[in-house]
Amino acid sequence: MITANRIPGAASLALVLGLHLVWAPAVLADEPWAERTKALGALSEIPSGVLSRSELADLTAIGEALFSANFTTQDGVGRPQATQAIDPTRRKHPREQVFFRTAGPDAGSCAACHNMPVVGGAGDFVTNVFASEGFESADFDSLDPQFSNERGTNHLFGAGLVELLAREMSFELQSIRGETLAQARAGAVAVRRKLETKGVAFGFITAEPDGSVNLDELDGVDTDLVIRPFSQKGVMTSLRQFTVNAMNQHHGMQPDERFGARWTGSDDFDGDGKPNEMSAADVSALVAWQATLPAPVRMLPEADGWAEAAARGEDRFSDFGCTTCHRPALPLESLSFSDPGPLDQAGTLNDRQVAVTAIYDFSLLDWAATLPRDEQGRVLVPLFGDLKRHVMTDNQIDALGNELLSQRFVERNLFQTAELWGVGSTGPYGHRNDFTTLDEIILAHGGAGREARDAYAAATDANKSAMIAFLKTLVIIP
Ligand code: HEC
Ligand code: HEC
Repeated sequence: MITANRIPGAASLALVLGLHLVWAPAVLADEPWAERTKALGALSEIPSGVLSRSELADLTAIGEALFSANFTTQDGVGRPQATQAIDPTRRKHPREQVFFRTAGPDAGSCAACHNMPVVGGAGDFVTNVFASEGFESADFDSLDPQFSNERGTNHLFGAGLVELLAREMSFELQSIRGETLAQARAGAVAVRRKLETKGVAFGFITAEPDGSVNLDELDGVDTDLVIRPFSQKGVMTSLRQFTVNAMNQHHGMQPDERFGARWTGSDDFDGDGKPNEMSAADVSALVAWQATLPAPVRMLPEADGWAEAAARGEDRFSDFGCTTCHRPALPLESLSFSDPGPLDQAGTLNDRQVAVTAIYDFSLLDWAATLPRDEQGRVLVPLFGDLKRHVMTDNQIDALGNELLSQRFVERNLFQTAELWGVGSTGPYGHRNDFTTLDEIILAHGGAGREARDAYAAATDANKSAMIAFLKTLVIIP
């Protein structure tokens, strides 16, 4: 169900006709030319229950309008008294300018960066972002790379499927922990078990009979066994968490669910004179649009020989060992996306904080019907990734070890395997958008990627180019 104040554009008709929708009295009679974002405040409550196809369409239309909107100071852009830190943090010295290229606010809209080849996509080097940690003592307007890591903009197509995979994997890892503990207790001996989910191994845990767990042998996942599929470091749990971060960082628009009176004691934490800048319902609409963006596809460019080269190249991709990390597909049990989700902590709305979550059934979406399934009926999500962090540098090859500051206390040379679906549409490459060709970013793989990289480097030119031909068939289509 969605409860609307008003719906932008054509969606309103569908809403009036929809039976499950509850209208709140229209609260805003803004002139059509008012310099406010019309889609803000369109919903009076967060959506709840299972949404029908048309409700989902109405909701995502609001989300799309928010993602593309050029937010203004009338909406609440700017945060003169607050920093971009993920945890609400006040600024030591108030800021006069609204925009600031490094510390943000750094853009008018989400789409200002995520637009390649279409809105929701990736971004060129010029859209790089300086991701910084929320250490309270840091001077957040500094240009010093000690305080921030420069990252390229990645695309959001298929992001809902990625979050669903991560949730299922987190639950499976957590249930392995539970079983291991139970075994240790029952047998009164320490039990060591492999942590593996969907064919991806995350090291080992050892449970002691006294109920303690040794996590020293974890590999590529946090100690709470939650897979965090977002950001190139793999440190953000959900689209919702990321959206709340991004609204504050890029626009100085502070969602109530983190910056509101409940947690900060103020309904205008950033001190710009605009209280309650963004409701949880606005965030829900943004999340719904991102979560339902279609998965990237395979498409053969019309050029002689491409089909044959790509077929050969796909085999080489596997022979070189690229598929050990860039898994062609991971199986997904359920296409039911709940928001707010189960794994977020306070500061991002989560399913413990609401009476009824909203359920977006992706199988209602045309693009989802085209996804392949395995013999057990599970959707095979063709992401070319494993949602795991790997060491990407060694003594000889360290181009990807360029960051000075650890993010969320993850080692500086660890990055989450980039999902390669869409890679044919999203150059330049690498977490800082440093590499103009696929060949260059492949040769930059060190550490755990070294063996595959060396196999590629040693291959004949014909085989290398066939593999590039294959990668270029993985595209985002408008
Ligand atoms: C100034 C450019 C810029 C703007 C504006 C921007 N983003 Fe991003 N976005 C990025 C960059 C850069 C990353 C990669 C961050 C990283 O890897 O640490 C990213 C990553 C993301 C991700 C994670 C994707 C993934 O697969 O890891 C989400 C979700 C996202 N952005 C949503 C948004 C939303 C929603 C908005 C608007 C509220 C927004 N972004 C505005 C640059 C931007
Ligand atoms: C040990 C795991 C691992 C192996 C093996 C591996 N990769 Fe990667 N790959 C990664 C990680 C992690 C990244 C993200 C690196 C970064 O930007 O920090 C990445 C990034 C990439 C990118 C850049 C994507 C983008 O959007 O910027 C491409 C292309 C790529 N890999 C191709 C390959 C190919 C081809 C092979 C085989 C020759 C390969 N990889 C082997 C882990 C791996």
